[in-house]
Amino acid sequence: MIEQVPSKVDMDKLVSLCKRRGFIFPSSEIYGGMGACYDYGPLGVELKNNVKKSWWKAVVQGRDDMVGLDASILMHPQTWVASGHVEGFADPLVDCKQCKQRWRADHIKDGKCPACGGELTEPRMFNLMFKTFVGPVEDEASVAYLRPETAQGIFVNFQNVLNSTRKKLPFGIAQMGKSFRNEITTGNFIFRMREFEQMEMEYFVRPGTDEQWFKHWVEERFNWYTNLGIKKDNLRLRQHAKDELAHYARDCYDIEYLFPIGWSELEGIANRTDFDLKQHAKFSGKDLSYFDEETKEHTIPYVIEPSAGVDRSVLAFLADSYDEEKDKEGLRVILRLHYALAPIKVAVLPLSRNEKLLPISREIHNSLRNCWMVQYDDAQSIGRRYRRQDEIGTPFCVTIDFQSLEDKQVTIRERDKMRQIRVPIEVLKSTLDAKLNGEPLDILPPGGKKWLGFEG
Ligand code: GAP
Repeated sequence: MIEQVPSKVDMDKLVSLCKRRGFIFPSSEIYGGMGACYDYGPLGVELKNNVKKSWWKAVVQGRDDMVGLDASILMHPQTWVASGHVEGFADPLVDCKQCKQRWRADHIKDGKCPACGGELTEPRMFNLMFKTFVGPVEDEASVAYLRPETAQGIFVNFQNVLNSTRKKLPFGIAQMGKSFRNEITTGNFIFRMREFEQMEMEYFVRPGTDEQWFKHWVEERFNWYTNLGIKKDNLRLRQHAKDELAHYARDCYDIEYLFPIGWSELEGIANRTDFDLKQHAKFSGKDLSYFDEETKEHTIPYVIEPSAGVDRSVLAFLADSYDEEKDKEGLRVILRLHYALAPIKVAVLPLSRNEKLLPISREIHNSLRNCWMVQYDDAQSIGRRYRRQDEIGTPFCVTIDFQSLEDKQVTIRERDKMRQIRVPIEVLKSTLDAKLNGEPLDILPPGGKKWLGFEG
């Protein structure tokens, strides 16, 4: 349920920026759109990939106790019987008798239709899984589901990963990918979609150590967002009340973000006990226990599950970094994205289209694009080009002017305070590399001249 506290950013502004600058488009727009489905444009795909890369780096690449997985979206239909989704993955649905709109009964406050105030039908349960058929015959025996979460692909591969990696408890398996839910209530941009991406991990631990590991992962996951620039004031933890817990969960915290629609879930971290492995062992008839070399006993590990949404993270990073500043030319719109997330890291901007500047500018562009996503832009005034880069969150612009032909130096201009420094071209790449990796701006590169605007 969304708590209606206004955030500082307007959703309409974000939607408009995303469309105008090529971050996110409504799906199949030329045909009138496809409800609650969105397409990531040229800048959006870079931002989304950077979010996923940062997650993978934090939970797989940077740890000895984690491995990755990429399971298929279509899984054996028994998976969803064992997990409880066939029986219980349903929302209560009500229809308005007057305007015919559909609502989730648990989102209705006063028993009346939120659109027209009309009378509502009795709630009926609606399963959120998308059904399809495998093979040429559309009968009950060929029914399959598009996965509603990535998590079950991890549980059914528990023994495969254990046997092939010889991991010892505690260890975890991470995977990211598409999930599908036939959501009833949609309409908050990419907050609730019918096709979306998740970043999930299952961390297997000895029973009895689960509470300690649960605390560890709540902290780790909260810090992941703040380390990537989300303001602490816009993030909070909310523990689930006992009557709110899923049937398999012993404890659960939501990491909530103050979205433009109010405080709402960004990621859930649950202690799922041994529920899933036991269920899959029961339904498959396979032994999914872990042999503990220390105690010489077979155990079913407990599981801690941090489960995040890629699209909700993208929305949170966009909302949190959006900023506006009034200046003499009007309004400067800035996405103050963490450098690791920015879609374009460097823009190469020759001062003008004068042909004398072309060879050196192209040479610089070619040398930098080997390292990062770099944009070359020579259209319109330099001021307007800086504004365009600010609006898409580009951390650094490199300007080549006529003096560069003489002194072999260029200007680097940074996004947040618009400070500028002149550096020799031979140290341009190493300077950008250091700054993009977090070196403070006031550290001067060899041969660089003091940043203008630093003290003033
Ligand atoms: N395996 C547990 C699980 O799937 P969930 O709370 O249903 O738990 C986890 O989903 C995360 O996936 C959510 O916190 C949210 O970020 C994202 N998510 C869930 N449904 C979504 C939807 N319809 N659209 C976008 N993101 C969604």
